[in-house]
Amino acid sequence: MYLIIACSKREQSNSRLLAEAAQRAVKSLGHEVELIHLKEYPLPFCDGESAYSDPNVAILAEKIVQAEGVLLACPIYNYSINAMLKNMIELTGQNWQEKVVGFLCAAGGTSSYMSIMGIASIMMLDFRCLILPKFVYATEEIFEGNRINDEDVEQRIVELSRSLIRIGTAMRNNP
Ligand SMILES: Cc1cc2nc3c(=O)[nH]c(=O)nc-3n(C[C@H](O)[C@H](O)[C@H](O)COP(=O)(O)O)c2cc1C
Repeated sequence: MYLIIACSKREQSNSRLLAEAAQRAVKSLGHEVELIHLKEYPLPFCDGESAYSDPNVAILAEKIVQAEGVLLACPIYNYSINAMLKNMIELTGQNWQEKVVGFLCAAGGTSSYMSIMGIASIMMLDFRCLILPKFVYATEEIFEGNRINDEDVEQRIVELSRSLIRIGTAMRNNP
């Protein structure tokens, strides 16, 4: 089972559209996939203490542990991932150990394309995650209402889903 986490709080979220496209891609490649929306699991701010015992932390941690690989569909805020996702990573911490992780980013413009490098290196160093190097980065103009209107982005989502499955399967077969 693969897990996709859509991390925006917005109603009309572009990263959500990326997440849904990835869900379709993983399914059409013949694998089980669960798409969850982080806003449906409200979390306290990580305080390094009592916040860890929030019931939603345990639910999310279990989903992450059980997943063969995780795609994070996130908004880019201030040249980084959004705070809601960062907070979730702080709270779920070591449950990310050696997880295969890919990113689908929704951004305003092209100049923030290196924004996930911070969190990618944090997850590599802290939890030994395997970060898929070819990620999806989509700017506002490629979205038209409720759909993605860019073949290259669609193609890239399929490529990311393929590499998630390829590395995820390899990890499962060689624990
Ligand atoms: C607080 C805030 C900060 C943002 N910072 C950036 C940024 O640094 N670079 C960028 O390209 N877009 C930035 N944006 C634009 C968002 O990335 C863009 O609206 C994106 O579609 C948000 O994802 P969502 O539609 O899934 O919520 C920012 C938006 C907000 C609200």
